[in-house]
Amino acid sequence: MNTPKTNNKKLLAWVDEVASLCKPEEVYWCNGSQEEYNRLCDEMVESGTFIKLNEEKRPNSYLCESDPRDVARVEDSTFICSEKKIDAGPNNNWADPKEMKAKLSKLFDGCMRGRTMYVIPFSMGPLGSPIAHIGFEITDSPYVVANMRIMTRMGDKVLEVLGDKGDFIPCVHSVGAPLEKGQKDVPWPCNADNKYITHFPETREIWSYGSGYGGNALLGKKCLALRIASVMARDEGWLAEHMLIVGIESPEGEKTYIGAAFPSACGKTNLAMLLPPKGFEGWKIWTVGDDIAWIKPDKDGNLRAINPEAGFFGVAPGTSYKTNPCAMDSVAKNSIFTNIALTDDGDVWWEDMTDEPPAHLTDWKGKDWTPSSDTPASHPNSRFTAPASQCPVIDPNWENPEGVPISAFVFGGRMSKNAPLAYQAFSWSHGVYMAATMGSEKTAAAEGQADIRRDPMAMLPFCGYNMGDYFDHWLNIGRNIPKPPPIFRVNWFAKDEDGNFMWPGFGQNLRVLKWIVDRARGRTESIESPLGMMPKYEDIHWEGMDFSREDFNKLIEIDREGAMEEVENHQELLDKFNKSGHLPEEFLHENALLKLRLNRSPKKWELPK
Ligand code: GTP
Ligand code: SPV
Ligand code: MN
Repeated sequence: MNTPKTNNKKLLAWVDEVASLCKPEEVYWCNGSQEEYNRLCDEMVESGTFIKLNEEKRPNSYLCESDPRDVARVEDSTFICSEKKIDAGPNNNWADPKEMKAKLSKLFDGCMRGRTMYVIPFSMGPLGSPIAHIGFEITDSPYVVANMRIMTRMGDKVLEVLGDKGDFIPCVHSVGAPLEKGQKDVPWPCNADNKYITHFPETREIWSYGSGYGGNALLGKKCLALRIASVMARDEGWLAEHMLIVGIESPEGEKTYIGAAFPSACGKTNLAMLLPPKGFEGWKIWTVGDDIAWIKPDKDGNLRAINPEAGFFGVAPGTSYKTNPCAMDSVAKNSIFTNIALTDDGDVWWEDMTDEPPAHLTDWKGKDWTPSSDTPASHPNSRFTAPASQCPVIDPNWENPEGVPISAFVFGGRMSKNAPLAYQAFSWSHGVYMAATMGSEKTAAAEGQADIRRDPMAMLPFCGYNMGDYFDHWLNIGRNIPKPPPIFRVNWFAKDEDGNFMWPGFGQNLRVLKWIVDRARGRTESIESPLGMMPKYEDIHWEGMDFSREDFNKLIEIDREGAMEEVENHQELLDKFNKSGHLPEEFLHENALLKLRLNRSPKKWELPK
């Protein structure tokens, strides 16, 4: 063991305790330096976990292919172990904390045999900021250490901030694959049969077993910054959300920040750094974060947001210089690529990165791939890990400990029909209802048959407590500040009869964001519909884009029957929370009003021609 540079008794005792349980070959305290990172990466190249990419094309970058049985977050194996089952709510898998601890003690006993146990000090949020939180992750995966160095502020500086008496959130992670004497390791150790991602909200602990991938293993992200932080936020009067934070600057230099929640793989990274389209000369977009926002009221009651992360763990497929040039620039160097295909000249390629795929690749499973292959070269959930500081439009305020002021909240899912391009809630409680009943399509089960899952606030897999209480917490936040930001719903994913997207999306989404900013600043018209306040064709900035009034009106119209069907679908969600007595009463009234408005609306509600 190298000598820990801390006298923090709680920390030292905890590390000792975990080491005697997990029985690693050695314990290593990470310092977070570049030398350490390089050494770990070299060791992983040596062991076959990493492939070093072509230094000319992709400096200081690595490719890693996971075990095909470990490629995404595992929601079925994710647990909230609150003392009372009701506190986990119908939205979470629950396990009794004592029983889960007993199970974990068995699983973790000797689970790091033959491996190094790394101790990672990390800060979620700028180091030393009053709204940041310190965590320690113990892991037996050097891949996790390398990724945590990009995704968080990690290393010795955290120990200094912690001091002798400081408190932290303990996070224990093991891939669950001990090595017997003489046993050769595999490139991606994991436990294919036994995965447990567990959270103890009362004692604020995280224990994760069996997976090395993404949110299962990089415990600062979903486990700490969302599941545990959402509990802290409830107790302390703030919000921990699955939101991007973006600043929109007009040519006159007026800057407006918005927080926007979309379910996983629904375009947060793209919206967070979108490229202003033709007709928006002089406009600037500034990225604060692409996945998680911590939002707190300041002393005047304004909501201020920080991004607790320091890197992007973004979906690779679909990212290109056409769709998201800033993401492409962010991953140009110092990045880690997971489950992505390797080109013959030692670079990476994923689906739709270029119009023409390369003639030959090694796919993410290590097999030869050509454009005629019938499987994708990169896994659909393949990801890049890149330092946020490399984003060319990273906001100058992104590390400001005070956070940035939020002027509007935006919520959107992936809906092929029955969800207009954009509309605004009538009030805070209507907006919270709108956000809570948001749906998003899973991959269509059958052609034309959309399978919609309710994903309240895009937080369904990430709220660490009963979501009925979470809805109430949202209502309370709005009640307790003088001027809660307006709430909007958007949908970039409407499709026509032939299955084509009706809205071009990507950079063009700025046209909708501009309307949202104008509304938030109280200087644009809107028209009342049964669903909310709608933009008119005239209210959108169309310069540089040919989009007819007719096509736009189609994106805004409301088909009464379809909208009713969508509202009927809310019922299941409402019933689930109502049954346990945790549904805010406002929601029943919002639901009734929505139905009444729709019942009394024309069969097809349309914008004036
Ligand atoms: P997580 O990182 O999983 O939380 O999700 P994310 O929301 O950050 O995912 P990401 O931004 O990487 O979503 C990627 C997917 O959204 C890709 O398939 C993109 O092609 C698609 N996408 C992004 N923006 C748009 C858009 O405006 N229109 C359409 N049609 N697709 C979009
Ligand atoms: C998501 O699934 O929403 C992600 C990726 O952002 S992961 O970190 O794996 O959860
Ligand atoms: Mn996410």
